[in-house]
Amino acid sequence: MFPSLGFVFAALSLVRCIPVQQVSSRNKVLLVSFDGFRWNYDQDVDTPNLDAMAAEGVKARYMTPAFITITSPCHFTLLTGRYLENHGVIHNMWFNTSTGVKLPYHSTQGVDSWWDNGSLPIWITAQRQASSIYFPGGRAKYQGEEVNMKLVEPLLFNYSNETNWRENIDIVMQWFTVNNLDFIALYFGEPDSAGHKYGPESTERKNMIEQVDRTIGYLRQRIKESGLESNLNLIITSDHGMETVIKTDEIHIQTVQNFTFSDIQFELLDYGPNGLLVPKEGKLEHVYSVLKNAHPKLHVYKKADFPRRFHYANHPRITPLLLYSDPGYVIHGRYKVQFNKGEHGFDNEAMNMKTIFRAVGPAFKQGLVVEPFESVNVYVLLCELLGITPEPHDGSLEAVKPMLRSGAPLPPAKKLTVMLGIALVLGCWGGIY
Ligand SMILES: *[C@@H]1O[C@H](CO)[C@@H](O)[C@H](O)[C@H]1NC(C)=O
Ligand SMILES: *[C@@H]1O[C@H](CO)[C@@H](O)[C@H](O)[C@H]1NC(C)=O
Ligand SMILES: *[C@@H]1O[C@H](CO)[C@@H](O)[C@H](O)[C@H]1NC(C)=O
Ligand SMILES: *[C@@H]1O[C@H](CO)[C@@H](O)[C@H](O)[C@H]1NC(C)=O
Ligand SMILES: *[C@@H]1O[C@H](CO)[C@@H](O)[C@H](O)[C@H]1NC(C)=O
Repeated sequence: MFPSLGFVFAALSLVRCIPVQQVSSRNKVLLVSFDGFRWNYDQDVDTPNLDAMAAEGVKARYMTPAFITITSPCHFTLLTGRYLENHGVIHNMWFNTSTGVKLPYHSTQGVDSWWDNGSLPIWITAQRQASSIYFPGGRAKYQGEEVNMKLVEPLLFNYSNETNWRENIDIVMQWFTVNNLDFIALYFGEPDSAGHKYGPESTERKNMIEQVDRTIGYLRQRIKESGLESNLNLIITSDHGMETVIKTDEIHIQTVQNFTFSDIQFELLDYGPNGLLVPKEGKLEHVYSVLKNAHPKLHVYKKADFPRRFHYANHPRITPLLLYSDPGYVIHGRYKVQFNKGEHGFDNEAMNMKTIFRAVGPAFKQGLVVEPFESVNVYVLLCELLGITPEPHDGSLEAVKPMLRSGAPLPPAKKLTVMLGIALVLGCWGGIY
């Protein structure tokens, strides 16, 4: 049922061979991501556990993700504090524009060179003693190093099984208490899947938020039972929001007048609202001119002209032409193969792409609602909580400091035992491949 468990236990016993530092006084950190949790998903559902957490801790009105607003890139921003053009994980899919090879989400998780492009995720820096349960990016090696303890999701994985969620929470508690880890990142593939499949306004999505809320209740109860309440800082966040897909007046590149795929050397289309194109030699101007006014909701740019505010295009992996579409509209390529009712990937300034940030624990103020901030700032907050020196990043500690208890002494930098938590990879692209 869960083939990777064997691996987890193997990793656990391996760690036991290393002398475990005995109970340090440092505060521990648990970073939890519920994929695709739109900022306002708790406003039309009864969420007693999220409400209690907000009352006892800090809640941002919302958090602005990085662009493009998709899973692996946005999680890697949380883990590195960098925008996509600076960390290099510019898509969920690995691709090679010379050969045309593209790898789907799950396979891309295993391509080290895709992730290890100059930025170290916090668990490597912190570790260099970390561990991970299914977090996007948790499977790769960075500069030859990987996280100590991790649980990687199998290819076919039921991302919505609540029993399994609780088992993973129990593993996390064990890793904190028995293995004395200081940092764990834990990933859940919902409510993203429900949002894609049924749409963000559906009953199914609302039911899933109730499940997420119960899970948060279970998590906080287990934190108490494990004696971790006074020294564990819990952060609950996500990668992006969700938008209802508009099924009329669709953008379909194949049907654009004077456009032909025979002018194209490489294309990455049919991935929500984002597209990457390499025209054949000498065809760039022509392709650009036929696409740029093809549809009022479609934006087409040459790489050098892509709006700077997105912090997206200035990277060698970005192709000569980039496409993105307005909220609600997805980009169809040769054939229509996208049937999701909900989608993301849109402009990170669109309200429906905004996501959540909540935190509770000894380092955080109580009952505080803070103004929105960008997700590039989460990394330096994690470093501050763990007392480690951040790598170069695009965030600012000033942006997140107001949520910390004034005068709360933060731990001095020293070696920690870190573990990167549970990343349940998304089932969301099932409808696409
Ligand atoms: C893409 O494929 C070409 C041809 O096989 C190869 O030379 C190049 O190194 C590859 N690029 C990447 C990033 O893998
Ligand atoms: C990032 O990857 C690109 C190709 O995909 C490569 O040209 C570049 O050198 C890499 N940068 C680092 C720092 O690894
Ligand atoms: C996943 O597990 C839940 C039970 O927790 C079940 O309701 C659902 O049907 C399962 N989904 C799939 C695709 O098996
Ligand atoms: C849910 O997960 C539990 C524990 O991993 C497993 O025993 C059960 O069969 C799963 N249910 C479904 C419907 O996948
Ligand atoms: C398509 O090409 C024809 C012939 O070159 C030209 O007359 C027409 O204006 C073009 N239409 C568009 C939308 O570019």
